[in-house]
Amino acid sequence: MKILVTGGAGFIGSCFIKHLLQTKPEYCITNIDALSYCGNRLNLTEVENNPNYKFVHGNICDSNLVKDLVNETDYIVNFAAESHVDNSIYHPERFVETNIQGTLNLLQAAKNSNIKKFIQISADEVYGSIEKGFADENSPLLPNSPYSASKASADMLVRAYSKTYGLPACITRCSNNFGPNQYPEKLIPFFIYKLLKKEKVTLYGTGLNIRDWLYVRDHCLAIDLVLEKGKIGEIYNISGHNQRTNLEITRYILKKMNLDESYIEYVEDRPGHDFRYSVSDSKIRNELGWKPLYEFESAIDSTIEWYLNHPDWLKI
Ligand SMILES: NC(=O)c1ccc[n+]([C@@H]2O[C@H](COP(=O)([O-])OP(=O)(O)OC[C@H]3O[C@@H](n4cnc5c(N)ncnc54)[C@H](O)[C@@H]3O)[C@@H](O)[C@H]2O)c1
Repeated sequence: MKILVTGGAGFIGSCFIKHLLQTKPEYCITNIDALSYCGNRLNLTEVENNPNYKFVHGNICDSNLVKDLVNETDYIVNFAAESHVDNSIYHPERFVETNIQGTLNLLQAAKNSNIKKFIQISADEVYGSIEKGFADENSPLLPNSPYSASKASADMLVRAYSKTYGLPACITRCSNNFGPNQYPEKLIPFFIYKLLKKEKVTLYGTGLNIRDWLYVRDHCLAIDLVLEKGKIGEIYNISGHNQRTNLEITRYILKKMNLDESYIEYVEDRPGHDFRYSVSDSKIRNELGWKPLYEFESAIDSTIEWYLNHPDWLKI
């Protein structure tokens, strides 16, 4: 079984590749990654010499390269993306290029090949801010940042290729991931990096914005399940049901590092900042039998531990 993984040198993609190579010896994986500032081949050192793994340094916007790679594969899992909301506010064009144009290139190549399944890795952010209750897979897409707008646009293209050309595709929409190997621009690794230098961490607004957290390996197990059993044309939300305010997560990190709240600085809110993300994932739980295996507190403890034991990672 041949799988083309895009963006596999990043945080989640590298975890997914390692998971597949550890558990599915019948899979041959090609990883195309542009090695942008957040892609790191060191995330994959342990599988670099695995005969079932091949790395291609390339861009999903390169249509000739994409065409060649797609022609040689059975499955595509598209992780490649610009993924940092703050960057999207200042450089939205980069998000349009990779997240929309890059996905379109993959879809176009897939439409003209014999792909068995195309999985688009999307995010809960496409539903926008959910003040109360949960968004399910039929909820409207109401993105509020250029990042989430680019992800929602890509989802729409995947849907259109499925409906118009019969492309066998699934979309997954997961909540915030945490775990080792996340680029230190995102809340948990970034705050640990600052606190190790005894610098203050900055919280937007009141710090009361709510995110739903899931351990990265649980996300990868869900994607694996969608790859094997996901129904063609379907969307699957994935969530940890661990809703925490950014302030709660910050306090947790401070406590683990034996620091007090004087290390928090509140700054002007991010424009268009979504207050709360919240998805219902009963579909993937009921129809595919997925549920998280990792308990939130122990997974976040081991994640914080990992960063404290890998200070070099935080300096990249
Ligand atoms: N991190 C989260 O909490 C989260 C939650 C839900 C969904 N997602 C989605 O999961 C996917 C992966 O997220 P992540 O956190 O691992 O991101 P990441 O930023 O760590 O990794 C992205 C990877 O894509 C590569 N890349 C960027 N542009 C590329 C291009 N044009 N061509 C080829 N490769 C390119 C980068 O080099 C990097 O290795 C993204 O699509 C993101 O939207 C992330």
